Amino acid sequence: MYHDFNYEATLASSLRAQWQLDDVLREDQPLDFSRNFMPESLAWTAALGSLNPFEQRILNQISAHQYLCIFGVVEEFILPFLLDHARPALRDDDYRVRALLNFAGEEAKHIHLFKRFHEAFVRGFPVECQVIGPSEAIGAEVLRHDPLAVALVILMIEWMTQQHYLGSIRDDGDLDPLFKSLMKHHWMEEAQHAKLDTLIVDALGEGRSEAEIDRAIDEFFEIGGFLDEGLKQQAAFNLDALEKVIGRKLDDRDEILAQQHQAARWTYIGSGMVHDRFKATLESLSPNAAKRIADAAPTFA
Ligand SMILES: [Fe+2]
Ligand SMILES: [Fe+2]
Repeated sequence: MYHDFNYEATLASSLRAQWQLDDVLREDQPLDFSRNFMPESLAWTAALGSLNPFEQRILNQISAHQYLCIFGVVEEFILPFLLDHARPALRDDDYRVRALLNFAGEEAKHIHLFKRFHEAFVRGFPVECQVIGPSEAIGAEVLRHDPLAVALVILMIEWMTQQHYLGSIRDDGDLDPLFKSLMKHHWMEEAQHAKLDTLIVDALGEGRSEAEIDRAIDEFFEIGGFLDEGLKQQAAFNLDALEKVIGRKLDDRDEILAQQHQAARWTYIGSGMVHDRFKATLESLSPNAAKRIADAAPTFA
């Protein structure tokens, strides 16, 4: 076996790592808008030479607003997916049932936490930032696909949050401490989710022929393409909000749009695609599937 994950041990570490919403952000707590919210390795805003430092920070904060909204959207399709996956076997393995329901409960808590941060953002930010959606429609489009394809997308997303915290946020001293704490607390629980997702993918892939797996990978790319279109639209909304705050139209809007779309591709797709654990699961499912996804990864880097 390429991993040693199991339901009993994962449930136990999950219960040890749990936190409450108020440990991260109280309902009335303000964010520090004099600081950046996103690490540069995800936001890519300090690299935009045509923006002054104030404008770069505003776009960085808009990029964090996007983070809250995108995770709100994805957690909203993870939740029903988990319940559907748990339901057919509620009597079999007690640890499995408890681990999956606990996972679902934690995702419901994360949705709540991201909403609380979103409210704090809206209270402190001078203009309204538009977001793609509605999240129900995005969720329905994702969930109409083969469960194996959906499970792979979710697995990629959960490993991605590990990369976001360990690879960039942990060592970035200049970020708003509350945002940093959000990423840290999310990472703590997502570490267990990614293990459970691995078990889910293993179960859904079991007994499938190479052709069936290949079709599921086609659908994985369909979902990826759909999410990528959403990211492109979101990048345009982000620049609309930036122009409203700074009171001028961007001369090089097309260049900035392309650069920010690419930053989002890396943050929400690419950083998960290249995660070693994600690649290991693909390799075990089918070397051909692993190769197809590795070949596509540079587009999202
Ligand atoms: Fe989550
Ligand atoms: Fe999760």
